[in-house]
Amino acid sequence: MNRSLFGKKIIVGISGAVAAFKAVSVVSELVKRGAVVKTIMTQSATKFVTPLTSETISKNECFASILKRKGSFDVGHISLSKWADAFLIIPATANIIAKIASGIADDMLTSAFLACKCTKIVFSSMNTGMLENEATQSNLQTIISRKIHVVEPAEGRLACGDVGRGRLPDVDIILKSIENILNRHLDLNGKKLLITAGPTQEAIDPFRFLTNRSSGRMGYAVAEAAAKRGANVTLISGKTSLKAPSGVNAIFVESASQMHKAVLDLAQSNDIYILSAAVADYAPKVKYSNKIKKNRIGRCYFRPHIEA
Ligand SMILES: Cc1cc2nc3c(=O)[nH]c(=O)nc-3n(C[C@H](O)[C@H](O)[C@H](O)COP(=O)(O)O)c2cc1C
Repeated sequence: MNRSLFGKKIIVGISGAVAAFKAVSVVSELVKRGAVVKTIMTQSATKFVTPLTSETISKNECFASILKRKGSFDVGHISLSKWADAFLIIPATANIIAKIASGIADDMLTSAFLACKCTKIVFSSMNTGMLENEATQSNLQTIISRKIHVVEPAEGRLACGDVGRGRLPDVDIILKSIENILNRHLDLNGKKLLITAGPTQEAIDPFRFLTNRSSGRMGYAVAEAAAKRGANVTLISGKTSLKAPSGVNAIFVESASQMHKAVLDLAQSNDIYILSAAVADYAPKVKYSNKIKKNRIGRCYFRPHIEA
């Protein structure tokens, strides 16, 4: 499974062009790659695709009106702009490009875009004449100079029947561009990491065990950070009170020998091992199947886990 955008909070702004339908496929692919996606539509965009479709695909509210409130009193476009790691506009009409170049904020999309300080990527899509017009070219230069990424449109047959430059690129090319821009820091992309964390419990009988005070926090934090840097992480954990970080494949064990087996089972299939679990050095020689009397605990014999 491709989790290249795991945990990324992405706004997809959709403006009123025929290619708006492709934005829905992009949203679906972003979600599959682990991103949390919220969509904003211009009023024109709602004539091409419905907010209901994008809400169903993104599993999040689609924002189409700046003045609409759903019970809460926060300022929607500002909280959205603070929430996002990335703001994409797919497709971006000539009109939207002109507005963002001039700092116009007359709807939800343009207001949130103006307020947002995160990485911004614009995928323009329009008729060749509109694209080549000096006004559009000058607007594109203006937004590029403000560190907004502009992905070039493709050539081909346009919705109006003309053939030329201005087509929204295919969905896989859009996704590649997004991944390339957003994942520049993903230095662990494609690497497989095995991380152990937490304490082990060495049973004396069904009710008693020997353990230690390891919280597991370090291993869990490393697992979360590695997943965010693109690694495919397996976390083998003893009993802790922590919730496994999302996107991490967690395997829960109790004793040192279970942890030993789980690690050996996966030893061949990982590239990097970070063994941060607090593994007991000794286990009782005998694990009693019934509760033993208190005065016999002191007479339990212990053995090292791995005989030298
Ligand atoms: C059928 C149809 C297709 C359109 N396709 C585009 C397009 O591909 N690119 C574009 O810039 N404008 C296109 N337009 C014009 C925009 O919809 C129009 O400029 C609108 O005001 C854009 O609003 P928005 O930028 O707020 O979404 C199209 C209009 C219609 C009716």
